[in-house]
Amino acid sequence: MARILLGITGGIAAYKACELVRLLVRAGHEVLPLPTPGAERFVAAETFYALARIAPPADPYPHLGRADALVIAPLTANTLAKLAHGLADNVLTEAALAHRGPLVVAPAMNTRMWEHPATQANVDVLRDRGAIVVEPGVGELAEGEVGAGRMAEPAEIATIVAQALVGLEGSALEARPPEDSVQSGVSGALVGKHVLVTAGGTREPLDSVRFLGNRSSGRMGVALAAEARRRGAKVTLLAANLTVDPPDGVQIVNTPTAADVERETHVRSAAADVVVMAAAVADYRPVEPWAAKRPKDSVTWKVVLEPTADVLAGLGARERNGQVLVGFGAETGAAGLDRKRAMLHDKNLDLVVYNDVSREGTGFDADENEVVLITRAGERAVPRAPKPLIAAAVLDEVERLLEQSKQEDRSGSA
Ligand code: CTP
Repeated sequence: MARILLGITGGIAAYKACELVRLLVRAGHEVLPLPTPGAERFVAAETFYALARIAPPADPYPHLGRADALVIAPLTANTLAKLAHGLADNVLTEAALAHRGPLVVAPAMNTRMWEHPATQANVDVLRDRGAIVVEPGVGELAEGEVGAGRMAEPAEIATIVAQALVGLEGSALEARPPEDSVQSGVSGALVGKHVLVTAGGTREPLDSVRFLGNRSSGRMGVALAAEARRRGAKVTLLAANLTVDPPDGVQIVNTPTAADVERETHVRSAAADVVVMAAAVADYRPVEPWAAKRPKDSVTWKVVLEPTADVLAGLGARERNGQVLVGFGAETGAAGLDRKRAMLHDKNLDLVVYNDVSREGTGFDADENEVVLITRAGERAVPRAPKPLIAAAVLDEVERLLEQSKQEDRSGSA
């Protein structure tokens, strides 16, 4: 059980903080809510104390005592700026200056405020100091606009807090399998390994409300993340506009656009033993998206698209030191299968998961899939099955590749 200071700042997302308090308490933590005066315009402090099952603190400095983690959700642009510059003008910002230990923040604000260079610079300052930033998602905001800025879901924040607390118990733990996999007797090549999975489909803005996207739901990537976790791996899921719930126990990073996937994959892949690129990443994006909503008129709207970076090819081109790299390919028919065979070599991958998107009821936005697993050692057709079973077949192959690279490593160093 940890002692968690939970800062809540002013914004409509303060309502979602109620659920976060509940989840943290349910996970067995002692939670001290620190709502700012701005937050109390939306939710009374007493509500947070009641959910935390504590009496309103009598001590004027409750926030300066020992705390294992400081979590701020929602974090407004204003408090973010204060944190970046070390201001201490209320109980929460004082607590932030006094706190030593993990800081997890979940920003929530209007899209234009979030995208403003001043806000992004402040986010970078916090990240450079080691803060964990739970990126806001894309969706409808309180003002009716659609865009990035909506606070991440409480379950996602609670999962990330749990991981930050596990990290606290000593860096040696990092190299060990998660406790529950030890307890449940899980064994296999994925135990204790870092697995990075991308899932969903990216959306490339045309203006502040419209985008170019694809039909990927994220089911396949989510099934892979859940299965890797079940096999004892430490999983990070880069989530591009998932339409299904992410699994418990994995770290989730929202990556709504191809640029987000590229940046986060770049940052996080170095520490990964396995990278699975299951997301449908846009191949093209509008060169000049409108900053605001483009008004409707009778003139033809011509959009110029530019190619995005091929993230997977970039990963394949680097030195990998035994890292297993998995790509997905959605094509049609035998010619498609041939192109995916070529992709194994062209992008220097260890495994290509080919699915024929011309088949009814499989692939994009479906519950089932039917794939061919292509490796240098050969091919294996996996017949039509629910995506969790396909995920298990893919990870069987990944475990085989991990074992193989371990043996090669041994014979190389012998
Ligand atoms: N991918 C990527 N970066 C992109 C596009 C795709 O990393 N900008 C990854 C996807 O996550 C997937 C694989 O590359 O793992 C798909 O490869 P791609 O060459 O795009 O093949 P298809 O999408 O099957 O087909 P096409 O070549 O027609 O795009």
